[in-house]
Amino acid sequence: VRSLQKADTFLQRSIGTDVAAAQAEAPPRDGSDEKDGCKSLHALQVERQEQAERSVLINCQSRTNEKKFLKYLSNHGDIKKYFFYESYGLYAVVEFAKRENVASLLEGAVIPSVSHESTVPFKSRLLSLRNLSLVDLSNQQSGLQCQPQTTIPINEFIQRLSKEESIDQQITSLTEAYQLTEENSRLRFLVCSLLKDIAAAYFPECTIKPFGSSVNGFGKLGCDLDMFLDLDGISGRNVKMPKSGLSLEYQMKRANSERAVTQSILSVIGECVDQFGPGCVGVQKILNARCPLVRFAHQPSGFQCDLTANNRVAMKSTELLYLYGQLDPRVRSLVFTVRCWARAHGVTSSIPGAWISNFSLTVMVLFFLQKRSIPIIPTLEHLRDLAGPADKSVIEGNDCTFVSDFSKIQLKSNTETLEQLLCEFFEFYATFPFSRMSLNIRKGKEQNKPEVAPLHIQNPFETSLNVSKNVNATQLDRFVALCQESSWLLQQRETNTPRGGANMTTAWGLATLLLPSQVAGIKSRKKRRREPASERIKGLLESLKNKNQPKTS
Ligand code: GTP
Ligand code: MG
Repeated sequence: VRSLQKADTFLQRSIGTDVAAAQAEAPPRDGSDEKDGCKSLHALQVERQEQAERSVLINCQSRTNEKKFLKYLSNHGDIKKYFFYESYGLYAVVEFAKRENVASLLEGAVIPSVSHESTVPFKSRLLSLRNLSLVDLSNQQSGLQCQPQTTIPINEFIQRLSKEESIDQQITSLTEAYQLTEENSRLRFLVCSLLKDIAAAYFPECTIKPFGSSVNGFGKLGCDLDMFLDLDGISGRNVKMPKSGLSLEYQMKRANSERAVTQSILSVIGECVDQFGPGCVGVQKILNARCPLVRFAHQPSGFQCDLTANNRVAMKSTELLYLYGQLDPRVRSLVFTVRCWARAHGVTSSIPGAWISNFSLTVMVLFFLQKRSIPIIPTLEHLRDLAGPADKSVIEGNDCTFVSDFSKIQLKSNTETLEQLLCEFFEFYATFPFSRMSLNIRKGKEQNKPEVAPLHIQNPFETSLNVSKNVNATQLDRFVALCQESSWLLQQRETNTPRGGANMTTAWGLATLLLPSQVAGIKSRKKRRREPASERIKGLLESLKNKNQPKTS
């Protein structure tokens, strides 16, 4: 009866209206509505997690009729938001108004009967649309609008950048093109929520939260999905035994260390994801790493996933990066630009190795911004001093306290432009005394290196650790040489003068810095000066047109 009433409501809304009007009344497609604004990361996580729990992921046939599809789904309840995207097929993310709506939808779903194989009857919110009558074959073009979940290739983007009128605009445009979209962020939370359903088979009260670049504000479309299995919130933990009288405690299996517990939990959940998780492929358990993890690909979303547990310090560094990114828009723009520049030149890589990681690079940008003559962002010590009692956080003996209320943070009035900052960033690291000094964002000061390592960046919370311990001298030298080159290039008239005009494709400004062979081959400056930059840029653009450039991820 309830389903019929709901269907009726939808029909009442649709009958007597043309398609456009019906669509105008249909639930809003995403992208047009609220932005995340200046919420704390915690508030954002809570809101997004709750949305994700009311959402389903549906593989649709390519010519699905949007209106009929929505009508069918709304038999189970009001749809708050939905969007389509393509990833090895057409998918829809549908957010219902209530969790009961999802339960009702699942109640009506069928377990597939397959002829030559067998299925694991694990039910999840990943579904396939199979009703043939919903497919409008008369309509060759489905007309569905898909939300992109990947970025455009860098060589195409370089051409687009060259049409901008200033380096500041180029930097802003790069940030806008590469940052995560509202839809992509929702999809990330939905994948965490789907994974939570698997983990909940063992730990019903667990949560799985995204961390790292999926939520710190510096994520680029296509970045990996770092997930944290959180068991801290389960009831009965941190509850004091009564001083007198009877009480009960759980009998629990014991292990030698927290690490051993984490390893066994991840091993079992990894196995479960591998054997039962729909859409999860290529599961690898990497349990002996410093931070044990389960790595796999989630095919329906296209995300490369890293599931960790007991990783609260990483969650704190995510919060810190998020906070810095929210304080001043130049922070995110500069981080995006530097990350993109580093990726274009192979300074960073998606493969682990002796390269500088995106995390280290971000800390380097933050340190640089703290070191401006008028600092753009405060030191971590200052953020700690502003913290209130509720902000206090000590994780495994490490002080992770810092203020969560953004409004308590007073910023200095630095008015430097993005162009100036980018140029100064390259200059700063082109001449930084890496051989003697370590970067410390707690104090916003360099300090003598406490141990031998080519690049030393103090871990903001686990202060005895170096976040760039993996970096070898060759990689650091490459980074420094590229900074020298880029700083030099930005000071050349050929580079820093807009070529202007929508039809011009001659690379200039930031576009020049992203051209692969422009700075990758580290030649001496003398040699470079023999040939005017304009000639080299022209040649490079020609070779770019001819070559199929690999995508940056
Ligand atoms: P992407 O390259 O876009 O994935 O950036 P990311 O920031 O997500 O980096 P990554 O996936 O390597 O790591 C995820 C998160 O783990 C980071 O954002 C940090 O919060 C944390 N993290 C990564 N590496 C280190 C490290 O060496 N030390 C510490 N303390 N935290 C790290
Ligand atoms: Mg990551």
